[in-house]
Amino acid sequence: MFDYQAPDNLLNDRIILVTGAGAGIGRAAAKAFAAKGATVILAGRTVAKLEEVYDEIEEDGGPQPAIFPLNMEGASAHDYENLAATLEKEFGRLDGLLNNAGILGVRTPIESYDPSIWDQVIQVNLNAQFYLTQAMIPLLRQAEEASIVFTSSGVGRTGKAYWGAYAVSKFAIEGLTQVLADELENTSNIRVNAINPGATRTNMRANAYPAEDPNRLATVEAIMPAYLYLMGPDGRGTHGQSIDAQG
Ligand SMILES: NC(=O)c1ccc[n+]([C@@H]2O[C@H](COP(=O)([O-])OP(=O)(O)OC[C@H]3O[C@@H](n4cnc5c(N)ncnc54)[C@H](OP(=O)(O)O)[C@@H]3O)[C@@H](O)[C@H]2O)c1
Repeated sequence: MFDYQAPDNLLNDRIILVTGAGAGIGRAAAKAFAAKGATVILAGRTVAKLEEVYDEIEEDGGPQPAIFPLNMEGASAHDYENLAATLEKEFGRLDGLLNNAGILGVRTPIESYDPSIWDQVIQVNLNAQFYLTQAMIPLLRQAEEASIVFTSSGVGRTGKAYWGAYAVSKFAIEGLTQVLADELENTSNIRVNAINPGATRTNMRANAYPAEDPNRLATVEAIMPAYLYLMGPDGRGTHGQSIDAQG
């Protein structure tokens, strides 16, 4: 596991946006960031799940979070502009962006991959990540130091049979991380990195490997040190990297 012990006040006064905050890794990250002092903006498509996370953060005594309903499959540039305008008005800046939401699509050979599912996966896992990140850059520039974290995968580094659009979208995320990091190198307060969570006990993993025993997998909580490291000031100096949460 990534070896990092975060201090309790690591993210005090930071404003951090987490996509896919209602379930799985995004839910754990939102709660971990709040537990370290961050005001978390919970973005996702199922409001009831976001409300549960909101309540859990409040019960744990974390800073009051905010909810922004966002379906990244159908969202237009206008929706991302709306989000940026709301955040500008409410907070005036953004200190962190965790691009976490994603979908698996189907596991099937390229030869028989349904083009409509291909489009859906590329829309959510790649295009929407670009739209959102682009819209957030002006707000991230307002922070003293800011961190963008993209979510990669092992199949985004080495292609594997039947992973189709999911693998291709994650290769593209690795590329987007490198391109944006290079553009912002030495010219900005924003660092850009990706995390490969590794096999983690979530619904997505269970859908990909239905026969697997989930108890043998890392929990979402166990992989949080890497997320906290990249989001907080100890991650200064890490830029343009793709790190393994279970490395
Ligand atoms: N788990 C693993 O082993 C593993 C390994 C490598 C990489 N990853 C990556 O880690 C990230 C999180 O995955 P996970 O395992 O936590 O998956 P998950 O449990 O399926 O959670 C995915 C999250 O993304 C949200 N989401 C899906 N489609 C969306 C849309 N159209 N608009 C907005 N939000 C949407 C989901 O919202 P709803 O709950 O409302 O559906 C959910 O909150 C993904 O990028 C995944 O590719 C996971």
